[in-house]
Amino acid sequence: MTKKILIINGPNLNLLGDREESKYGKNTLSEVKENCISHAKSLNIEIEFVQSNIEGELVTKIQESRKIYDGMIINAAAFTHTSVAIRDALSLFKKPCIELHISNIHRREEFRHKSLICDVVTGIICGLGTHGYILAINAMHELLKNGNR
Ligand code: DQA
Repeated sequence: MTKKILIINGPNLNLLGDREESKYGKNTLSEVKENCISHAKSLNIEIEFVQSNIEGELVTKIQESRKIYDGMIINAAAFTHTSVAIRDALSLFKKPCIELHISNIHRREEFRHKSLICDVVTGIICGLGTHGYILAINAMHELLKNGNR
């Protein structure tokens, strides 16, 4: 049976490719999206890929996803470090959830070392560039096979 997963992207990730190339690489978000969709297809996974700069929109999307998706991959971007509202919404998502960062947040400024969501997700991928999205899909594939949260 086809599994459905949601990939959520937070603020400023719409500027990938045009934003701090040394940290985030050359790929645009639409290239990342296309790569995710085609890779997921080969694993019989259907992807919805969204991005918003608005915290409340992300919260609403996470709330709505509870009954629709089998799993979630989230790059909450700067909201990772600030948003109790996103954390609270994620803690209601009782299915596999992977926190993703393109850059290694632990090698950067101290304020990025703290993630408010790291203990309400299943696992974390960070610092492996935009290829991390593909790694997260592979990890999600395994989690869904094993029925893990
Ligand atoms: C990010 C890391 C965050 O600290 C930053 O605010 C981002 C992107 C990453 O993917 O490396 O916008 O989540």
